[in-house]
Amino acid sequence: MADGDIRFRRPVEADHARLIRVVDDWWGGRRLRHLLPRLWLQHYTSSSWIAETADGALAGFLIGFISPDDPAIGYIHMVAASPNIRRRGLGRQLYAAFADDLRARGVRELRAITWAGNRQSIAFHQALGFRVDDGPGTVRVYGTTAYADYEGDGEDIVAFRRALEDA
Ligand SMILES: CC(C)(COP(=O)(O)OP(=O)(O)OC[C@H]1O[C@@H](n2cnc3c(N)ncnc32)[C@H](O)[C@@H]1OP(=O)(O)O)[C@@H](O)C(=O)NCCC(=O)NCCS
Repeated sequence: MADGDIRFRRPVEADHARLIRVVDDWWGGRRLRHLLPRLWLQHYTSSSWIAETADGALAGFLIGFISPDDPAIGYIHMVAASPNIRRRGLGRQLYAAFADDLRARGVRELRAITWAGNRQSIAFHQALGFRVDDGPGTVRVYGTTAYADYEGDGEDIVAFRRALEDA
């Protein structure tokens, strides 16, 4: 488990600035801040989480939502733990908080994606019981299966899903 003094709360719009400051660094230098425009901190806070240490420092976050088209599906848009607090269960706790919350709101399946080269994200999702999509349209890449050129930008994307069992 993560350190006992880590607290979870809902994000507020004012968190946008501090999230944007860490995103590129926490994703290993990859430029990803364009994936977190302010709208996520305006319209998705009731299904997202911020984790902070006792002194208020940002420990991690999860931005997710219930699919407007299929309310049985919960989607994790971004999740991260501070590089200083990795492999101590924080990512697992963020997913548990998201899952518990959405399960109680009728969600039955979680989904997420990552790029095919993000080994730690793939290992993390598999450790949490997510299955990698391997059906029609996927190709073998980096020892897993992925959708080639998923967004039309040349990037291969691994898609995960996990049933939300009854608690
Ligand atoms: C992916 C990420 C959120 C995991 O957070 P974390 O707090 O370190 O994960 P946890 O400690 O809860 O790990 C849970 C399990 O996932 C697996 N896991 C996590 N990180 C792993 C890694 N780097 N390599 C292999 N397995 C890993 C392990 O099985 C781990 O259990 P264990 O430590 O008992 O063996 C974190 O590495 C991160 O922020 N990465 C950068 C952002 C990112 O890529 N996000 C995901 C895509 S949106």
